Amino acid sequence: MLRDTPATVYLKDYRPPEFLIDQTQLWFDLGEEETRVRARLALRRNPAAETHSADLALHGEQLELLSLAIDGHPLDPESYRQDSEGLILKQVPDQFVLESEVRILPQQNTVLEGLYKSGGMFCTQCEAEGFRKITWFLDRPDVMSRFTTTITADRQRYPVLLSNGNPVETVQLDDGRQRVTWTDPFPKPAYLFALVAGDLRAIEDSHTTPSGREVALRIYVEPENVTKCDHAMAALKHAMLWDEQQYGREYDLDIYMIVAVNDFNMGAMENKGLNIFNSKYVLASPATATDRDFQGIESVIAHEYFHNWTGNRITCRDWFQLSLKEGLTVFRDQEFSADMGSRGVKRIEDVRLLRAHQFAEDASPMAHPVRPDSYMEINNFYTVTVYEKGAEVVRMQANLLGAEAYRRGTDLYFERFDGQAVTTDDFVQCMADAGERDLTQFKCWYSQAGTPELAIQGHYDAANQTYSLDVQQHCPATPGQTDKAPFLIPLAIGLLDSRGDDMALRLQGDTVAGTGTRMLELREPRQQFLFEQVAEAPVPSLLRGFSAPVKVRFDYSDEQLMFLMAHDSDGFSRWDAAQTLAQRILLQRVADPECPVPSGFINAFLQALTDDSTDPALLAEVLTLPAEGYLGDQMEVVDVEGIHQAREWLKTTLASELQEALLAVYHANAVTGAYRPDAASIGRRSLRNLALAYLMQLPEANIHRLCVEQYRSGNNMTDVIAALSLLADRDTPETAELLEAFYQQWQADPLVLDKWFSLQAMSKRSDTLERVEALLQHPAFSIANPNKVRALIGAFCSGNGVRFHAADGSGYRFLGDRVLELDGLNPQVASRMVRLMARWQRYDPSRQQLMKAQLERILNTEGVSRDVFEIASKSL
Ligand code: TRP
Ligand code: ZN
Repeated sequence: MLRDTPATVYLKDYRPPEFLIDQTQLWFDLGEEETRVRARLALRRNPAAETHSADLALHGEQLELLSLAIDGHPLDPESYRQDSEGLILKQVPDQFVLESEVRILPQQNTVLEGLYKSGGMFCTQCEAEGFRKITWFLDRPDVMSRFTTTITADRQRYPVLLSNGNPVETVQLDDGRQRVTWTDPFPKPAYLFALVAGDLRAIEDSHTTPSGREVALRIYVEPENVTKCDHAMAALKHAMLWDEQQYGREYDLDIYMIVAVNDFNMGAMENKGLNIFNSKYVLASPATATDRDFQGIESVIAHEYFHNWTGNRITCRDWFQLSLKEGLTVFRDQEFSADMGSRGVKRIEDVRLLRAHQFAEDASPMAHPVRPDSYMEINNFYTVTVYEKGAEVVRMQANLLGAEAYRRGTDLYFERFDGQAVTTDDFVQCMADAGERDLTQFKCWYSQAGTPELAIQGHYDAANQTYSLDVQQHCPATPGQTDKAPFLIPLAIGLLDSRGDDMALRLQGDTVAGTGTRMLELREPRQQFLFEQVAEAPVPSLLRGFSAPVKVRFDYSDEQLMFLMAHDSDGFSRWDAAQTLAQRILLQRVADPECPVPSGFINAFLQALTDDSTDPALLAEVLTLPAEGYLGDQMEVVDVEGIHQAREWLKTTLASELQEALLAVYHANAVTGAYRPDAASIGRRSLRNLALAYLMQLPEANIHRLCVEQYRSGNNMTDVIAALSLLADRDTPETAELLEAFYQQWQADPLVLDKWFSLQAMSKRSDTLERVEALLQHPAFSIANPNKVRALIGAFCSGNGVRFHAADGSGYRFLGDRVLELDGLNPQVASRMVRLMARWQRYDPSRQQLMKAQLERILNTEGVSRDVFEIASKSL
């Protein structure tokens, strides 16, 4: 290795800060060559500090020092030391004012962290540790300060100058520049700081809170996009109302601003009063955005808004507590989306994502607890485990407590910790206090990695009319954690009688029988539950609503799964039974390529298709086969080709057996009238496009024409992109023409072009890698833009398994090249890409070698970033 191994940061080393910063005043002078930042920090010793040093170490990276003074006295060079990580001030007083001035170069910032330029505008991204690239500071979330920010910039180029809080002053200067001052009354950690400067237009609205505060709502975008903000604004207003009603939380400033930028590492950022968004999660019109896009906007807008209480008013003590704000806020946005749209479908989508990505992460060398114990680079821990499993962990607490006690718990949390930086333990304690329960054992969910597995057996005793469930829990070893304590697991179950109805449930010891669903609580490695007065042998429905993020093993027959698929009162469980059955059939086919489809399955499929009592959205979920990646996760050794072939075969078989029914569903679910992204229309479109996808497995010319017709006549991007994606799997002159025409039509819209790149990257055609490589040279592609990287490189490597995992290693070499190219520009994005090889051990020896070779090559490259180093080294 040609570099020092990066240091590891440990949770156990946490100490309160030695100094606090009560006030922070910042002056930005934004220029075309350089930006100057002046800071005035009011520092004092922290009375709660556990350690005392004479010197003070401030964070600061890539800052060019221009001046430094303490209490108005310029510092002489002996009294401080600057290195690549910060500034050490020697022998400081207990209370003082530090003034500094630095030069930074936002125009050269390709990392997109700190202050940078996106197109013509300046913007910031400070979470997690970006503020230290702006000025010297105690850049840790438990140091909360009151910020006042003054921005000076050219009025022509940057008429709009924004920062957190409320505007206090605007001054036009004689030299063509403008100076604006903002002040934020709420103390906040530096990671919530934001600044924006640009030639922007806003759409405006307002919201009145229950206490009567009138809040101005503004969404700022580049001038050509003002017509695409209405959906985001509506979502914001819905989110504000929902948080008032569901959590009793209202907004606390007079103005709430959202700014859309094109170059952004993640989805969006909850900076106090000034959210900065990836434009993908703001801009939408029926012609340019799909149903998924509309839903994504609604949920991300809500997520960032909800952070105002869960993240900003109450923040994290340290970055190990990241899930305190992220897990809770994801749970909140999931529930919001469930209330706005179709609750059952939302739950299925969330579980599908969790199983596909978080279960996979838990089974990988990168497995870590919801509250990690250590990290090299915190940016690597914005993971599906911290976010999505973190949300499940909050959901379980809500399930264990019930809705009312959960609400008392969050009320208590806001009351007890408002204005503070706290831990996940603090959150759980509020739940324990409000629910009057001991949740000590529950905390395992925060400290232990891995996906628990439940092995369940049922036994019906006809003579005694009892049914017993024997449940064993086990959690596989993960890096650094071999033996695990048993988890407290809420397991929701029901028992179906032979008509498919829920039995009344009487657990041994109950005085009255309950109905429907029962929440069992697992605490031991092995437990028995005995149900009494069970008149006939039931079919158990297990883990209803996905009551815990676990895997369940129960030896169902195919018939029982079909029975559950047809009758379970819980929509999630109906879907889950269908998935389990399809998975079984597909994996059998991988093992035996001659194995036929059980006829019962085709019938079950047909029944589902022709039963118009089912919500189309739910039906579309039920009829979607498990993804190739997820099927691979269920195998000892992933058989990339075998899975692909089996899944294609099953789709084709279903299509040819059920062609008529699929066509009928296709035609019956046409949505007429103007496009609307409401749950009912979204459901119909998704079912219809699923039917089209099945039908397009067949070579029939009339189906092909149907697809082309949908492409040409579609009045919304959902239908257009669905058709074009299916056509892009075919290597015909017509496909080439349509793709070219699509490009010509949309070349001015970067978000639409992202879709164009993605659908080509995910094409089933055998020459896809060549085409992806050619697209890297396309004038509309830019390796410096994270959305483009995700659309082309990310889509190919994570959305096209069979091509990415090509046996000759060409996909891996391609990814290795791109990671190294990206790492020099944007390590955060590079490190997300390198993760796609972290699970190399799951493949056959030849692929293992090929992936490993790329990881080693990356690791042996001089100057590789800390971000990429951590993932590559932990993977090997
Ligand atoms: N806190 C943001 C969210 O979840 C996530 C985020 C946005 C982020 N930008 C980032 C995290 C950059 C790390 C780095 O809403
Ligand atoms: Zn978040």
